[in-house]
Amino acid sequence: MPNIPNSPKLFIKTYGCQMNVYDSDRMSDALAPQGYQTVPAADGADLVILNTCHIREKAAEKVYSELGRLRALKERRLKAGQPLTIGVAGCVAQAEGEEMLARAPVVDFVVGPQAYHRLPGLVERARDGERPVETEFPEEDKFEHLPAASKKVTLGRGPTAFLTVQEGCDKFCTFCVVPYTRGSEVSRPMAQLLAEARGLVDAGVKEITLLGQNVNAWHGDDGTGAPSNLGRLLFALADIHGVERLRYTTSHPRDMHDDLFAAHRDLEKVMPYLHLPVQAGSDRILKAMNRQHTAHDYLTLIEKLRAIRPDIALSGDFIVGFPGETDADFDATMSLVREVGYAQAYSFKYSQRPGTPAATNDAQVPEDVKAGRLARLQTLLSEQSHAFNQSVVGRTLPVLLDRVGKRDGQLAGRTPYLQAVHLDAPAHRRGQIADVVIEAAHPNSLSGRLANAPDHTPHHTPHPTHADLAKGDAA
Ligand code: SAH
Ligand code: SF4
Ligand code: F3S
Repeated sequence: MPNIPNSPKLFIKTYGCQMNVYDSDRMSDALAPQGYQTVPAADGADLVILNTCHIREKAAEKVYSELGRLRALKERRLKAGQPLTIGVAGCVAQAEGEEMLARAPVVDFVVGPQAYHRLPGLVERARDGERPVETEFPEEDKFEHLPAASKKVTLGRGPTAFLTVQEGCDKFCTFCVVPYTRGSEVSRPMAQLLAEARGLVDAGVKEITLLGQNVNAWHGDDGTGAPSNLGRLLFALADIHGVERLRYTTSHPRDMHDDLFAAHRDLEKVMPYLHLPVQAGSDRILKAMNRQHTAHDYLTLIEKLRAIRPDIALSGDFIVGFPGETDADFDATMSLVREVGYAQAYSFKYSQRPGTPAATNDAQVPEDVKAGRLARLQTLLSEQSHAFNQSVVGRTLPVLLDRVGKRDGQLAGRTPYLQAVHLDAPAHRRGQIADVVIEAAHPNSLSGRLANAPDHTPHHTPHPTHADLAKGDAA
């Protein structure tokens, strides 16, 4: 992006989940009409926004250390006569609200995730010396009032994009802050999402990842006033010319419905990868977590998925040391992991979050026990992901080359199974889906080479959808 002199500069630092990544882009879109130009570091910025995460204690603490660093910058800038405005957004902002102003005098405004469309006004008030806090859940639809991802704002952000379809959560797992920081579940209407997806495709996007804390609970208006579902949304998106890959995250095992299975079965564009967190393998713990399903229910879902899409790569989230977790409970988690075989997974020590039911449970597990269990689980999970990466060596896979690589002359991309691949490829291939021969597996990535000679146009036409085939107009 060109450096426009005299335009105010905005830097957003993003913590937490992909929803925050999406929101950070929407915040810079919301401030663009005010002339704000987004820059990659705090140094030259006039406005810094921290988009924060509250999910575990460590995540929330990071914000205060960052604010400490920013205080020094703000003081230096003040002496130089160049004021710096600092805002806190995201889930810590929502959870702490007014408290943040008292705890961190460097903060000029606080804005919760439901109020980003009100940012321009908040920034103005902050610059006038007021310290506004906006953490209400406003009546109006935020998405109606935010500039949608459009060609103008999205160009240059690469061939992959997030699209938030659903926000908030009504599940109230007893460990989790999300229902409090993001509010109750809201699904965006189908028409709004299809329009945003078309805008993304016009801007060069090939792969769209649908986002929601419970993305498969999406039940947006189908245009007739009736609720739709995520499976049907995937079918509608797959019909958009130019959409080549679809993903969605994060799913809850309770919301895996038939249309979603059908999407995995029938749509080539839906990538064979599913992030389906289970958290624990013991029914007793699952119950105490209020997950509302058993380990058997979960394993049955996995079996059903593998029956319709045998190559599907699975990913999950795990919590060890939930209050009351015994050695036997933890062993049940280990057996479940062995039974499933994950391509990738995230695992965490249980963290007590203020305001959640489990935080005040008397049976907290000692820190050293949690650490021991986490180490055992992570060893198993990394063996599994390494084995999965190893299993694709020698295969030719379509890789979406979405970014420049670590070394000159390299590009990096993702396989359908979301594995990162590094390879030598000319820069102009960036943004394309190329056939890549996978040559080696490393702990967290793969390396490979382009399957075709550099001057040979590779196969990267979109796979026909069932709808295309039905219409008889498939390539
Ligand atoms: N909506 C998703 C999870 C969102 S939070 C779902 O239901 O699966 C992302 C992950 O953070 C969770 O899956 C869980 O593994 C972890 N997590 C959430 N709260 C936590 C806590 N209090 N301590 C440790 N890990 C937690
Ligand atoms: Fe949190 Fe549970 Fe909702 Fe996921 S489903 S966001 S873990 S409360
Ligand atoms: Fe964190 Fe909020 Fe996402 S707590 S994980 S940023 S929804």
